Amino acid sequence: MKLTDIYWHLRSDISKIEKELEATVDAKHPILKKASSHLLKAGGKRIRPVFVLLAAKFGNYDIEKVKQVAVPLELIHMASLVHDDVIDDADLRRGKKTIKSKWDNRVAMYTGDYIFARAIEMTTNCNKPEVHQILSDAMVEMCIGEVEQIRDQYNWNQNFRIYLRRIKRKTALLIAVSCRLGALAADAPRDVQLSLYRYGYNVGMAFQITDDILDFVATEKELGKPAGSDLHQGNVTLPALYSMEHDEELRSFIMKMIKGDKPDKKVMKVIIDKIKASGGVDYSLEVSDRYLNKAYKELENLPDIPAKDSFYQIAQYIGKRKF
Ligand code: IPE
Ligand code: IPE
Ligand code: MG
Ligand code: MG
Ligand code: MG
Repeated sequence: MKLTDIYWHLRSDISKIEKELEATVDAKHPILKKASSHLLKAGGKRIRPVFVLLAAKFGNYDIEKVKQVAVPLELIHMASLVHDDVIDDADLRRGKKTIKSKWDNRVAMYTGDYIFARAIEMTTNCNKPEVHQILSDAMVEMCIGEVEQIRDQYNWNQNFRIYLRRIKRKTALLIAVSCRLGALAADAPRDVQLSLYRYGYNVGMAFQITDDILDFVATEKELGKPAGSDLHQGNVTLPALYSMEHDEELRSFIMKMIKGDKPDKKVMKVIIDKIKASGGVDYSLEVSDRYLNKAYKELENLPDIPAKDSFYQIAQYIGKRKF
């Protein structure tokens, strides 16, 4: 099933969110306006605001209230992408040039900050102090995750635990928080909020593991962003970690070929093929499935409403996604 089919019943509320996103990034300054709407109009899956809307269905759903949380969550995600593309030196995002490449790193830094600021501005409409605390905690963790990734660049001896902790911080927590805050904004019971948070955490872990797999197996055209670039930049993800742990020869080959300076495309292709052949991708898919199964289990605790089905379908989509 396609993601748009899963979102179909939410389409009128999603278009309200789109309008709000456009209005929110509208800046007085022409560069900030152009750069942020460039990224916004390029599209994206909008998976975080969708989680907010679905989670809110477990409480007293009021799109006007829920919007105040859904829009900031997509904005925080977008801002992190703008900064991430600077750190990862990426030229393509959502099938379009990145802000750092169309403008430059300095413009990208401030556009990211600007989008963050707009997110914070919008959350002031929400009078639940818990919302602000939960959001800022997730943002702090995201910064720690990204900065740990810089620290662990080209560290071939990191273990799975370090990898899992990093992706929890940089990706899973924001998705967990999207689920929790949707429920909180709609005054859903606390146990429902916490169940949705755990669902979001598990789905978020699977989401980043899949993103890391796709970096190995998909093309730039399919992804709308660079492929094969993680290892190239010394970002050691699960497929590589597994293969290096199980194949000593491959480990020394990779360490020799990637030493901090960028290896050429042909060498990268050989490395990527060897990682696939040694089971790194298959293993990562298994780990992703393990998280998805935990997410499904978590849903069992929730009342049977149509949103629950959509949560199932999104988890299934994550297990099979190609972009
Ligand atoms: C990309 O996120 C960054 C990760 C956390 C893996 P998405 O895959 O949600 O990106 P968009 O919003 O659809 O472009
Ligand atoms: C996720 O990691 C980035 C953030 C959580 C900001 P990646 O660096 O793998 O994301 P992509 O692949 O560029 O979208
Ligand atoms: Mg990155
Ligand atoms: Mg990146
Ligand atoms: Mg990636």
